Amino acid sequence: MDKFIIDGPCRIKGKVSISGSKNASLPILASTLLFDKPVIIKNLPRVKDINTMLNLLKSLGSKIEISKDKKTARILNKKNMKTFASYSLVKTMRGSILVLGPLIAKFHKSMTSLPGGCLIGARPVDYHLAALKKLGMNYEIKDGYIIAKSKGKLKGASITFPKLSVGATENSIIAACLAKGKTILKNCAIEPEIKDLTNFLNLSGAKIKWKGRTCKIKGVNSLNQTEYSVMPDRIEAGTFCVAATLSKGNLEINNLNPNVIQKELNLLKKAGANIKTNKNKITIKGPEKIKSLKSIKTKEYPGIPTDLQAQLMVLMCKANGKTLITESIFENRFMHVAELQRLGASININKNKAIIHGNTNFVAAELMSSDLRASVALVLAAIVSNGKSVINRIYHLDRGYEKIENKLKKIGIKIKRLK
Ligand code: EPZ
Repeated sequence: MDKFIIDGPCRIKGKVSISGSKNASLPILASTLLFDKPVIIKNLPRVKDINTMLNLLKSLGSKIEISKDKKTARILNKKNMKTFASYSLVKTMRGSILVLGPLIAKFHKSMTSLPGGCLIGARPVDYHLAALKKLGMNYEIKDGYIIAKSKGKLKGASITFPKLSVGATENSIIAACLAKGKTILKNCAIEPEIKDLTNFLNLSGAKIKWKGRTCKIKGVNSLNQTEYSVMPDRIEAGTFCVAATLSKGNLEINNLNPNVIQKELNLLKKAGANIKTNKNKITIKGPEKIKSLKSIKTKEYPGIPTDLQAQLMVLMCKANGKTLITESIFENRFMHVAELQRLGASININKNKAIIHGNTNFVAAELMSSDLRASVALVLAAIVSNGKSVINRIYHLDRGYEKIENKLKKIGIKIKRLK
């Protein structure tokens, strides 16, 4: 298994360009199952999760051509596709559950593995199943598979999600595009990645309208040939902004509309960062002294994203005071805490709350990655630790960050990957 060696402390300096969003690419790629004409998706990030999704589509019968730079996929589905999404593929990437909606909407049957949990939580899919059932999907769970079918086309329905769920919202919107009649989804998640999905579908001839957390979809018979470029990854951008703030850095981030991370940028300003933005560039200078943010609570969009919680925790370890971090989305998303404690952090956990005592002097150590975002938090901590840190199992990182060591080397970080 690959590992990183990071020689700290270093200061970030230079320019970084943000890759396409993994969490916008996954639902967009899954939704291409609705099409019987060619679809071209551009600006895909070259990360493992995208390869997994492309392999899953290929296993279902999609003919996929990838460009030399691996950022563009041309997808053409066969007339009669397979509808079996195997556990071997689904278990490596939970986002695979997003093929269920399009398979049932287009082919009226599907055998999709339950994704199972992951380190950050049980990750159930009950909201997905309840919503698709309302649209006319009948299913039973057998041997860890969702065996689903519908009597012909799905039928539009009015659905209110019990809780905000990114995946359940995406699965339902995708399925409703080919349903008969009108679907109204209430209490939807409204992450920018979901809007990127609906922009893509509307460009392809779907009829989707948003009003706050309500999404109205008028079913159509088919979708047109389309070419679409995926939005940049706001979590990758946020991670680099935290890194610059943490390391007294001076960083320019290109090709990202700052509006999608305005809340996070305001938070970093409060921590002392000096930030300038224009329509698609951010310039960020880290302060000599990092101020404690007192209390940070992760929330569904437009709140502070759970996917930045671990990175912000590292920042607060270097702040001049105590900070309370409340993780309100996932039940077990503090795996990075034990690793940060190995580097010298002083953090107390009580259920989904963590008190960070700040003024930490990180000393390099050997570390273990866990979930994708926790792993990148260890990279950030290693960047400002004294000495050589080793980070093991960085395949977690490769799932969601495109060749992060190349980007980090270019902005002054002494990092190397050991096979
Ligand atoms: C998406 O996961 C993202 N993944 C996650 O990013 C992100 O952390 C999460 O949204 C929250 O923003 C992708 O987009 C591929 P949810 P998702 O459904 O859709 C519970 C990363 O690092 N829930 O909004 O699975 C669930 O357990 C990943 O890129 C149910 O109970 O998140 C969680 O506690 C990690 N039943 C909460 O809702 C359901 O049917 C929010 O989950 C669905 C969800």
